[in-house]
Amino acid sequence: MLIEHFRDVPPGRTRVLSGSIDRIGDVLGPLGVGSVFVVTDPGIVRCGHAGRMLSLLIDSRASVCGFDAVRENPSKVDVDRCNAALDAAIVDRFGGKEPECVLAIGGGSAIDVAKAAILVRAGGGSIEDYGGVGSVSARVPPLIAVPTTAGTGSEVQSFALISDESTHEKFACGDAAIAPRVALLDAELTLTMPRHVTASTGLDTIGHALEALVTTKGTDVSRRAARDAFVLAAGAFERVLTRAEDLEAREAMLQSSSLAGLAIENSMLGAAHSIANALTAKFEMAHGEAVALALPEVVRFNSVEPVARALYRDAAFHAGFVESSDADDCAIDHLIERVYAWIAHAGIDLLASRLHDHVHVDHVHVRDLAEVASRQWTARFNPRAVDIGAFETILEAMIRART
Ligand SMILES: [Fe+2]
Repeated sequence: MLIEHFRDVPPGRTRVLSGSIDRIGDVLGPLGVGSVFVVTDPGIVRCGHAGRMLSLLIDSRASVCGFDAVRENPSKVDVDRCNAALDAAIVDRFGGKEPECVLAIGGGSAIDVAKAAILVRAGGGSIEDYGGVGSVSARVPPLIAVPTTAGTGSEVQSFALISDESTHEKFACGDAAIAPRVALLDAELTLTMPRHVTASTGLDTIGHALEALVTTKGTDVSRRAARDAFVLAAGAFERVLTRAEDLEAREAMLQSSSLAGLAIENSMLGAAHSIANALTAKFEMAHGEAVALALPEVVRFNSVEPVARALYRDAAFHAGFVESSDADDCAIDHLIERVYAWIAHAGIDLLASRLHDHVHVDHVHVRDLAEVASRQWTARFNPRAVDIGAFETILEAMIRART
C-alpha cells in the first residue's frame, strides 16, 4: 500500500497510508526527494521513534536534518525555533537550498509546528498573522505526517493549532498548502503512549467524532466519517486502556482518529471544544481530558435539537448501544452514560473534582470560563446556539454531574 504514488495528489488533499514506517523509502521514492527536514518532540526521541525514522531516511539515501524540541501546546516560540533550526540545516546540510520534503513524526503538536513553520516560510511574518483560513501562493515542500498518538487527526487536516503565548488560548491557522501530502499510519508507534496519553488522546478522538457528527457545517460525507470514527473508537477505546499491547485495537483507534480528523476538516467542531479551550487556558488541563469533561453535558445540551438528536441516536445504534426499536431518549441516555463510563475508566473523572474545587474553593467564576468559551471559534458551529449564559448552564451541569 505504501508504494502508492502521491506526486499527483492536489494541495489540500491527504493520501492516507497504513503500514510500517520501515517502508518510508517507498513513500519518498516516487518524489525523488533528496533532502528531508524532520520535526519531532523530545518524547519521541526518547522512545526511539525519531532515531529509527532518521536511520530509515538515511538508508533511503536522503540528506536529513531536524528539529526535536517541539513542546506540548506549541506557540509562536516553537514555530520560530523550528524555522531557526531549518535555516541552520539549509546552511549546514542542504547545500543552501530549502528541503525537498518536511516530515513530522509525533503527536499533534509536532505536526502542527511543522505546518506552521511551512506557512511562515512561504508567506513571511509571524504565525500569529495567520489565524483563520488563508491561501499562500508560494510553492511549499510536501509534508509527510507520521502520527504517534491516536487523537488529534492533524495528519489529515489543513489546520495547525497554535497557542497564544500570553493568553494560552489556541488559534487555528488553515491553508490548503499545509495539509500533509501523505499521512502514514503505523499503529505500532502508538504502543509507546503512556496510559494517560492513550486515555486523553482517545477521548479527544471520541470528542472529535461526536462534535463533527452534529455541527451546522457538516455534510453527508463528513457526518458519515464522524459516525464511522465513533463506531471504531467505541469498539476499541476500552480495549487499549485495558490491554495496552492490543495492536488491533490500537489500529482501530488510529484509523478512528484520522477519520474524525477528516470529518473535522469539513464540518469543524462544537461547544465541547470551546469549553475545553477555556479549561486548558485557565487550568492547563490536557486537551483531551478537558474535551472529555465537557462532552457528555454538551451532548445532553445539544440533543434537544431534532437533527442532532437523530444523529446521536444513529451513532449510538451503530455502536451497538441500543436497538433500533429503542426510543430516542433511551439512545441519548445510553450515549451519555457510555461517555461518562469511558471517562471513569480513563481516570479523568478525578479532574471533575478539580474543576469543582477551582470553582468552589479557589472561587474561579463560572461566568469567566463561559466568557472565554464563548469567544472560541468552534462555538459558532455548534448545532444549538450557545451564548455565555448557555455555556454557564453547561459548565454548572459538568460540575454537578461528578460531585
Ligand atoms: Fe480536540
